[in-house]
Amino acid sequence: MSLWIIYIALLLAAVGALIVIILGIIGTYLIIVGRFMRYSPPVPSSGKVKNKMLQDAAEYLSNKSGLEIVDLGSGWGTLLLPLARQFPHHRFVGYELSFLPYYVSKFRTRHLTNLQIVRQDFYEANLASADLLFCFLLPDEMRKCGDNLLPSLKSEALIYVNRFVFPNIKPDRTVSFGSEYETFYVYRLDRTGHE
Ligand SMILES: C[S@@+](CC[C@H](N)C(=O)[O-])C[C@H]1O[C@@H](n2cnc3c(N)ncnc32)[C@H](O)[C@@H]1O
Repeated sequence: MSLWIIYIALLLAAVGALIVIILGIIGTYLIIVGRFMRYSPPVPSSGKVKNKMLQDAAEYLSNKSGLEIVDLGSGWGTLLLPLARQFPHHRFVGYELSFLPYYVSKFRTRHLTNLQIVRQDFYEANLASADLLFCFLLPDEMRKCGDNLLPSLKSEALIYVNRFVFPNIKPDRTVSFGSEYETFYVYRLDRTGHE
C-alpha cells in the first residue's frame, strides 16, 4: 500500500515538473519573440538603394564639417560605417535596440571615434541637433515616427527613408530604380508638404 502511495507521489511530482518545464519553455519563447517582434527586423539597406543613398548623402556632407548624422535603427552599421570612415569631421550616432545587430555593429565600428552606436530606443533620444537622418522601418513604425518624432527635428534636417514612407507627408525627392522595393525618399521638413 505504502509503495503505491510513493508511486503516485512520484508520478504527481513528475507531471508537475513536466508542466513547469512546458510553461517555462512557452514563457521563454513568448518573451524572446515579443522582444524581437517589437521592432522592425534588422534587414540592412542593400543594393542600388543603399549605394545611391550613401552617394547622395556623401555629396551633401562633403565640404561641410561638424554635422550630426543619425541612423534611427542602425542595424548592422551598414550605412553609418562607410560614411563615418569617409567623413571623420562629422559625428555619427546609431540607435539600435536589437541585441545581435547592436553588438555586431559595436564591434565593426570599434575603431571609429566619430561614430557611436547606442543601445537605446530612438524615441527616447534627443534628436534636436541631428542634421541628417536615415530611417528604414516598417509602415506602422513609420507612422509612429512621423507623428512623434518628426516634430522634434530641425526643420532643415534631411531624412533619408528607405522603402516605406511617412504617411501623409510628401517627400522632397523620390529616387526609384523601378519597384517600390528599390525606392528611397528624401524629406526636408521645411520643404515637404502634407498630402
Ligand atoms: C530594417 S533595419 C534597418 C537598418 C539600417 N538602418 C539600414 O538601413 O541598413 C531596422 C532596425 O531598426 C531597429 N529598431 C527598430 N525600432 C527601433 C527603436 N525604437 N529604437 C532603436 N532601434 C530600433 C531594429 O532593431 C532594426 O535593426
